[in-house]
Amino acid sequence: MRNCIWALILAMLVAPATMAKPPQQEEKAAPPPPWAYGFDSVADPAAGAPTPAPAAVPPRDDGTLKRLPGSTFSFTLTQIRDGYGPADWYPGDHPQMPEIVARGKKPEVRACSLCHYPNGKGRPENAGIAGLPYDYILQEMAEFKNGERVSADPRKPNTHFMVDFAKAMTEDEAKAAARYFASMNWTPWIKVIETETVPKTRIQNGMFLRLEGDATEPIGQRIIETPVNVEATELLRDARSGFIAYVPVGSIKKGEALAMKGGAGKTTQCTICHAADLQGLGPVPGLAGRSPSFLVRQLYDIQHGYRSGIWTSLMKPVIANLTTDDMLAIAAYLASRSVPPAAGSTAENSVAGPEATFSSANK
Ligand code: HEC
Ligand code: HEC
Repeated sequence: MRNCIWALILAMLVAPATMAKPPQQEEKAAPPPPWAYGFDSVADPAAGAPTPAPAAVPPRDDGTLKRLPGSTFSFTLTQIRDGYGPADWYPGDHPQMPEIVARGKKPEVRACSLCHYPNGKGRPENAGIAGLPYDYILQEMAEFKNGERVSADPRKPNTHFMVDFAKAMTEDEAKAAARYFASMNWTPWIKVIETETVPKTRIQNGMFLRLEGDATEPIGQRIIETPVNVEATELLRDARSGFIAYVPVGSIKKGEALAMKGGAGKTTQCTICHAADLQGLGPVPGLAGRSPSFLVRQLYDIQHGYRSGIWTSLMKPVIANLTTDDMLAIAAYLASRSVPPAAGSTAENSVAGPEATFSSANK
């Protein structure tokens, strides 16, 4: 099975579009788009060693037990954000977590469920890893470990953490985590909205949080991905409360032309390797319905050599000629592709619902 997929992929590699010219010099020099990496300005290479982004001071735990609708559990803030056993509000939503996913391994490896959530949905500043192929997850853990996968923005703190975790894990722990996350399907999580203006946001630990009030600003050439419910996501880590991705008007259609038709020779149809429904094929990861900020980061990191594993060499020539705006459009399109809802679930509850403003409880 695996061999025949590789034969297919390798055959595709010699397709003419992947032999395209090297990227334009000025585009090569384009800095990582700060919004995709959770910043509001580009890193200054002249500043010497990068200053890591300051971690936000977490709200104080006053010992109150927090609750969420649909969960029979209650947790304090300290329990919710415990790096070695964070709250699992909805254990019925996922299979039983292996130890490394539920509790990590003290002190080097924090629980995967802290950042990627027990159901693997993740957040824009990390990654949705549910439904990725088993082989792909193991491959990525190896690339983080071997220094073949870093972030183009050296200020991004959590990619450094991911590298440290991969280095500290045993083969068996990586396999247990890969089996677990690969066993779940990717289901709807992000609602994509084309717009000219976006709610004003502030950035906290790499995530854009809507400010209280109705203030808006032009979207510009950015994707702003923000929780549907700020308090549920940021404070309570509600693994059923999804995200809205605001994208510039026209980007989905532009992205479709690039992803599905190769943009008239600019790139190769993504469907050739990522499957007709863009939900992944063999060891190649799914792209449909996934976080567009995450996708832009990966496209930029791959194009600029910050991801350089053996499998990455299949992707690199495909996207060599894309500009950052092309990547934005492709990511908007991919994120807008529907994926089947979880069996028996009212999937809308993950992406719809009231657009709660930033609650005073989180200040
Ligand atoms: C502190 C937060 C954090 C924890 C804990 C964490 N990760 Fe990650 N993980 C990240 C970030 C951040 C990225 C994406 C990095 C980027 O975009 O540069 C990531 C990416 C990944 C990816 C790549 C996904 C893809 O589609 O390419 C995999 C696989 C992964 N993590 C697995 C794990 C496993 C398994 C664990 C538990 C052992 C874990 N992570 C724990 C933050 C975390
Ligand atoms: C020749 C086969 C091939 C084609 C065509 C292809 N990809 Fe990929 N893609 C891959 C492989 C293989 C990987 C895994 C790379 C790795 O392990 O680093 C990948 C990884 C990715 C990732 C990273 C996903 C993640 O979870 O980290 C993104 C994003 C991506 N591809 C987007 C695209 C887009 C957009 C297109 C079309 C413009 C495309 N790919 C076309 C083979 C391909």
